[in-house]
Amino acid sequence: MTCDAERFERAFAPVGVFVTFEGGEGAGKSTHIAILAAALRASGRETVCVREPGGTAIGEQLRGVVLDPSNDEMAPLCELFVYEAARAQLVREKVLPALERGAAVLCDRFCDSTVAYQAYGRGIDERAVRLVNEVACQGLVPARTIVLEAPSAAAGLSRAASAGDPDRLERAGAAFHDRVNAAFRAIAQADPDRVAVVSSRASIEDTAAAVYAAVAAVFPELSLEALLRAARDHAASAARSKREERA
Ligand code: TMP
Repeated sequence: MTCDAERFERAFAPVGVFVTFEGGEGAGKSTHIAILAAALRASGRETVCVREPGGTAIGEQLRGVVLDPSNDEMAPLCELFVYEAARAQLVREKVLPALERGAAVLCDRFCDSTVAYQAYGRGIDERAVRLVNEVACQGLVPARTIVLEAPSAAAGLSRAASAGDPDRLERAGAAFHDRVNAAFRAIAQADPDRVAVVSSRASIEDTAAAVYAAVAAVFPELSLEALLRAARDHAASAARSKREERA
């Protein structure tokens, strides 16, 4: 291929958008990822949702290992490298190809979780964590990051616990989770152009409106009305499933 053809191809290549959702336990990330994904798809944008650790067959196996409560002897450095291994696979197998196609990729947790949980939470040197993050990310940096904040670490943990047996990280103790939540606030303060803190204390629609404000600049095709409609649809279908469960 000639240089001119390469330049032409690059200039007209579709542009994907990578957005991450972060936060402590039980902050409502999956709800707001589902709402944003529905609104983006309705606007015609291919949208891929992935989660960390996981999102690939290999990553889901690694997720099983790192969250298994019976692995309570796992050393902090082993934990760090399992998260990074799952990330390296996800970026290579799913995220970069989707971005090359021009898709929106919404990722439930990414590098900021490693800084919050393994550096602030476990006490691993932050520079070391940031260095291995950089290697696993292979040059990928989120265009925007939403930190969803539960009213408190305790409230988030009890919401997460209501979903089933607590995993190894959810069992790490209140002081650990307080450090994690403080870390997310510090990360947002240090990088306000990328990271927005959104409280999930408000109604689902108000929270969705705050998410919209944080991502509107990177998704010009998205309207506030479309996102609010997706939030209402999501709330209605969650209420329907709850009613069916009770019946
Ligand atoms: P979740 O996806 O259900 O939130 O579970 C993932 C758990 O793993 C959660 O407790 C946060 C934790 N975690 C880390 O400790 N480090 C990381 O790098 C990532 C991505 C998650």
